[in-house]
Amino acid sequence: MLKGRNLLEPGDFSPAELEEIFILAEKIMDKPAKYAHVCDGMLLSTLFFEPSTRTRLSFEAAMLRLGGQVIGFSEAGSSSATKGESIADTIQTVSCYADIIAMRHPKEGAPKVGATVSGIPLINAGDGGHQHPTQTLTDLMTILHTKGKFDNLTVGLCGDLKFGRTVHSLLKALAVYENVKFILISPEELVIPTFIRKEILTKNNIEFEEVRNLEEVMHRLDILYMTRVQKERFFNEEDYVRLKDTYILNEDKMALAKDDMIVLHPLPRVNEIAPEVDKDPRAMYFKQARFGMYVRMALIMKLLGVDVNEETRRAV
Ligand code: NCD
Repeated sequence: MLKGRNLLEPGDFSPAELEEIFILAEKIMDKPAKYAHVCDGMLLSTLFFEPSTRTRLSFEAAMLRLGGQVIGFSEAGSSSATKGESIADTIQTVSCYADIIAMRHPKEGAPKVGATVSGIPLINAGDGGHQHPTQTLTDLMTILHTKGKFDNLTVGLCGDLKFGRTVHSLLKALAVYENVKFILISPEELVIPTFIRKEILTKNNIEFEEVRNLEEVMHRLDILYMTRVQKERFFNEEDYVRLKDTYILNEDKMALAKDDMIVLHPLPRVNEIAPEVDKDPRAMYFKQARFGMYVRMALIMKLLGVDVNEETRRAV
């Protein structure tokens, strides 16, 4: 039962619960009109203490398309955080107004603190370089829709594996499926952090390799997950400038890949995928953004405990 729960990191939901969400998202995608009023009269609060385009707009579009409404802020500067209010107090206040919260914060663990005092379901929409579970729902939904499965896949994760929270969440989520193999492609300075290598990969005996060269592994991949070097998490500009263009996926590299490999990217992209790749049918990143909205619609419905049958009953 997902009603009333929080989503702070991918492990919070079992594979069966995730499946429930994906099934509902597919149904919504199929007949969106049927779901256009299931959240009439309900409010989502988007508390974004850190910039975002996709995630915030995707949450807002999701709630509006369910008939609900949205309140919130898109930068800490326009909230009472500037007056010194604690996260706990902000969340307790917002709990009095809204039915569900989506929160993004630059500090790792901030949504977890918020959830301890929230009277309503709280969704982590990204906390620092830690986790980003709704991007993972988006990624998983895209994989399921195109590959039809999560097991027996070789997944290449490329770019900033150190600070990329979407990578951390995706690794954690995929690690529970059978025979998933990871190829981790990054510069030495941006390898995955110990909390992922030890606590997720080594501890669960997951097969993984760490490599520096993308070309050499292209032909083995079923999925290539490209990421942006996370400029905002660097301590100095020089390091960022040196590392930012380490990997650039282009047509030549795509020519080395399997015909049914798919390219994912949480977006925004900077230089890591050349625009010429966009027209390749294996480039899924814009479709992925669309899946993200539907999967967030399904997530909101599940956490609020509304379903289409209830709505039909209410309407008659
Ligand atoms: C990601 C994020 O915020 O972590 N963006 C997103 O939510 N789609 C990836 C990124 O910013 O690089």
